[in-house]
Amino acid sequence: MSQRPIYHVNVPEVPQHVQMLDFSRQFAGIRDEILTAIEQVCSSQRFILGPSVESFEHAAASALQAPYAVGCASGTDALWLAMAAAGIGPGDAIITTPFSFFATVSSILRCGAQPLLADIYPATYNLSADSVQEVVQNHRGSSIKAVLPVHLYGQCADWDAFSALKQRHGLLLIEDAAQAFGAKWRETPAGALGDLAAFSFYPTKNLSAFGDAGLLTTLSSELDERARMLRSHGMRRRYYHDEVGWNSRLDSIQAAVLEVKLRYLPRWNEDRRRIARRYDELFQEAGLAALGTADGIVLPATDPRAFHVFHQYVIRAPRRDELREYLTDQGIGSEIYYPLPLHLQTSLQGLGYKQGDFPLSEQAACEVLALPIYPELRDNEQQIVVGAIRDFYAWH
Ligand SMILES: Cc1ncc(COP(=O)(O)O)c(C=O)c1O
Repeated sequence: MSQRPIYHVNVPEVPQHVQMLDFSRQFAGIRDEILTAIEQVCSSQRFILGPSVESFEHAAASALQAPYAVGCASGTDALWLAMAAAGIGPGDAIITTPFSFFATVSSILRCGAQPLLADIYPATYNLSADSVQEVVQNHRGSSIKAVLPVHLYGQCADWDAFSALKQRHGLLLIEDAAQAFGAKWRETPAGALGDLAAFSFYPTKNLSAFGDAGLLTTLSSELDERARMLRSHGMRRRYYHDEVGWNSRLDSIQAAVLEVKLRYLPRWNEDRRRIARRYDELFQEAGLAALGTADGIVLPATDPRAFHVFHQYVIRAPRRDELREYLTDQGIGSEIYYPLPLHLQTSLQGLGYKQGDFPLSEQAACEVLALPIYPELRDNEQQIVVGAIRDFYAWH
């Protein structure tokens, strides 16, 4: 005879912790497909480049509406490969943003070129084309070859303005699209906007590998051919090295995983957009979204010309560091992208910039806070996050 419980204990359905990111939910949904794809690579015993990399490159190029896609070892390498393939090197300068991940600038240095920095638009946190124009004017004698805008947090930089700059000054445009697979400017996907683009598949990205991986896209067959050569030690023919390239090949297992995930990405990006809208709603309902006022939270701004994929949902928050500490105490994850702008990094002091040079980036670094967002995040978890933020401002 089965034992009946004497008391029914109500286990609360609301989880106590909200993680910044939990891809185990995603893995649970696609486990069989992923393991089958990995198994196929193991059976083929082709672990580097080969058919699974070629197949992923085709699928990615088609999804991005880019004529050419070259898989490589990481997003950092994709940036370096893009510049190296374009022939950028010592004596050249590239304009980019100080409000990005370190690799945006370090890859320029790795090419032997000089990074010139320009400030951001405070609403989108993306590189300001007006600031870039000023830098171009102030460096008339220098050999500025390219502009490297970053599609930060999943939103494309103002490509109308950068296209106009390209027309005016004949500069190359290279996209740092590490955070923006599936994002669009008007109808054109990130990756098909610039002369070249770099994507990262680092495990926290919206399209993520099971390790390091990256991709370069380009509109030019010559640049595609050169990038392929450079990622394999400058070889066109086995063991004949036409140039000093590098080992930046994409692993076959990573490519197989990425090709499975790529099929789901449009749905996942739509989920991220839905979750972002829900956060907006919850903040409005809680009376916290006093947009533009000194003591209100500033919600993410989407340019109407951009299709934002919300790789991150980033607010500006008064007393940001105290709020973050409070959220941590409540078991709620958050992150700061990025706490120190690149011109103030110790290793980049040689660039010659100082505090105060990029005030909008410096202010953003003190105020931004990224909240949990990923396709499987649940509504009750979003409510917990916004409820905790409401409590913080009510009681502290
Ligand atoms: C804006 C940006 N650029 C470049 C990179 C470098 O990519 P990876 O970590 O794959 O080298 C990243 C990701 O970390 C990034 O977010």
